[in-house]
Amino acid sequence: ETKTNLSVTVVGASGDLAKKKIFPALFALFYEGCLPQNFTIFGYARTKMTDEELREMISRTLTCRIDKRENCGDKMEEFLERCFYHSGQYGSEENFAELDTKLKQKEGGKLSNRLFYLSIPPDIFVDVVRCASERASSKTGWTRVIVEKPFGRDSESSGELTRSLKKYLAEEQIFRIDHYLGKELVENLSVLRFSNLVFEPLWSRNYIRSVQFIFSEDFGTEGRGGYFNNYGIIRDIMQNHLLQILALFAMETPVSLDAEDIRNEKVKVLRSMRQLKLEDVVVGQYKGHSKGGKTFLGYTEDPTVPNDSITPTFAAAALFIDNARWDGVPFLMKAGKALNTRRAEIRVQFRHVPGNLYKRNFGTDMDKATNELVLRVQPNEAIFLKINNKIPGLGMRLDRSDLNLLYSMRYPKEIPDAYERLLLDAIEGERRLFIRSDELDAAWSIFTPLLKELESNKIAPELYPYGSRGPVGAHYLAAKYNARWGDLA
Ligand code: BG6
Repeated sequence: ETKTNLSVTVVGASGDLAKKKIFPALFALFYEGCLPQNFTIFGYARTKMTDEELREMISRTLTCRIDKRENCGDKMEEFLERCFYHSGQYGSEENFAELDTKLKQKEGGKLSNRLFYLSIPPDIFVDVVRCASERASSKTGWTRVIVEKPFGRDSESSGELTRSLKKYLAEEQIFRIDHYLGKELVENLSVLRFSNLVFEPLWSRNYIRSVQFIFSEDFGTEGRGGYFNNYGIIRDIMQNHLLQILALFAMETPVSLDAEDIRNEKVKVLRSMRQLKLEDVVVGQYKGHSKGGKTFLGYTEDPTVPNDSITPTFAAAALFIDNARWDGVPFLMKAGKALNTRRAEIRVQFRHVPGNLYKRNFGTDMDKATNELVLRVQPNEAIFLKINNKIPGLGMRLDRSDLNLLYSMRYPKEIPDAYERLLLDAIEGERRLFIRSDELDAAWSIFTPLLKELESNKIAPELYPYGSRGPVGAHYLAAKYNARWGDLA
């Protein structure tokens, strides 16, 4: 495609996400030779900045995986030469028309595709989309827009946003990003399941006792309190990242690997899910804590958070899929900030072996004798399967050991960042890993009544110390469904 131009305009170029993820991902794609020969990158934001200043800003934060490589410096120079900046208001047609003029200059009349990445707060999505599509869309090639969550805060506002965006863009032009779908282990989930005979036949209520989706971070919301307090952990992590993984995990076999076939199955399984009930949810909020001479501030002590905030920074939930495959199986989710560790994982807990011959060797605790398949999404990507094994020796003692696929050993090559995969897919028009609007509707339907109930009843979160394992309520929730959290076992 040497004749085609590509421009990527990062709207909100001076923001955190742009600096930390988007520009580094674009650079990595350039470094790997994945961008067309004629490409241009534009930063767009309100801040006044020259092209040089943008380059300087980007180069300071290109702390991507590439920067350890050979000739990274030369490549970076080449890359930066293709980066430009246009300062403008987000709702100004005139400013977008100016951008259009600059883009045209770079494109030199050739067939040109334009990708806009909206890395901006949701209240200005529609303005930007209106201005960009009316004044700066490509006349010769495609125009696509990547949008980042939050896509609304409940069913109604999300529906409203979808309708407004559709005034200016066709669904095929909108790429709703959920960066968890670009993570290596999440992509691998379907490969693991659908291409291994040892797993697919077990993937149902007949053999699986509970499935757990766990997200934890060992830092709080410092610096992002303003955004976070409006949304809370359920909207920030569960309704999107964890639910997306759940949908991939639980969907029926798609007709093919085409985006529409996969997304059809995801919508189906999401629509089979029960609306979440208050009694199946535990919410928490971290409080200040001193450890080893260091003091960690509680959530409400953050100056950007109101003192009386009851926004959850932790939540655990039990979800159910009312279909033939999953009837009665608890899908447990847990997400929290300021916990003891940073990790994301999927845990599949299998049932007991019926009439286990070796029951005696496990004592009475048969929980210790069940198989568990773990996909560690991060950090240190790995897949392991817990199996029962005889401890070598003359006696007959058993233990549960891991069959371990540690990515750093098996695949020492670095793993691309999720944003690289997703940006490349958007450029190539591959929609498999982006969220379709009906998927989004189905996802909100599961959480909206609960969120309203939590908020209208002002349910107070259970406090947990910064750096702890989170509220004990989460244990009771799992126990209610005869499960225990695999990460704490
Ligand atoms: C974002 C959330 O979507 O994902 C953040 O808004 C969270 O609150 C982040 O920290 C986690 O992403 P990752 O890739 O660092 O696990």
